Amino acid sequence: MVVAVHDLKKYGQGKHNKIDDYQFGGGAGMVMMVEPILNCIKDLQKERVYDELIYMTPDGELFDQHIANQLSLKGNILILCGHYKGVDQRIRDHIITREISIGSYVLSGGELAAAVVSDAIIRLIPGVLNDESSALYDSFQDDMLAPPVYTRPAEINGWSVPPILLSGDFPKIEDWREAKALEITKEKRPDLLDKDFL
Ligand code: 6GU
Repeated sequence: MVVAVHDLKKYGQGKHNKIDDYQFGGGAGMVMMVEPILNCIKDLQKERVYDELIYMTPDGELFDQHIANQLSLKGNILILCGHYKGVDQRIRDHIITREISIGSYVLSGGELAAAVVSDAIIRLIPGVLNDESSALYDSFQDDMLAPPVYTRPAEINGWSVPPILLSGDFPKIEDWREAKALEITKEKRPDLLDKDFL
């Protein structure tokens, strides 16, 4: 698993490596030009085949666990981060295969959003993380929030751990965790219970 970052400025025009220009029709804000983006992507496609060309944009589909699961099954993914007013629409129309947003707010650029998406995907790839944080462990509750967790000591400041967790009765502990997960999900994120993840 390799993550590589590529600077579009390397493909910019003129002495200042320009990659943006004023928008046709007027209005504030610069638009990222077709040519630098196209030249960069063509260059990268000489080295490998990309299964998805993703554009990070606030008007993309809202990123969730389902999309992360889908993308974790792909081979190579290329993520384009917009800045300013975004990229020339023709890149989106002809080159991009998928557009993703990470939430209903505006960031100054797509980079942090791309980092969020990358992290969510990478942790699902088998062998990338250690066993303990392996996705296997959370997949059974993909459509639920996690139950509360405790560690030693069993009591501190008069605060105790739910006795069931100290019982050694693992089937019962599993039942308790599932019940807690359901309770917490109902309380905090009831919308998740209507969803169907991969
Ligand atoms: Cl993907 N990009 C930007 N610039 N802002 C965002 C976003 C992406 N997702 C939410 N806000």
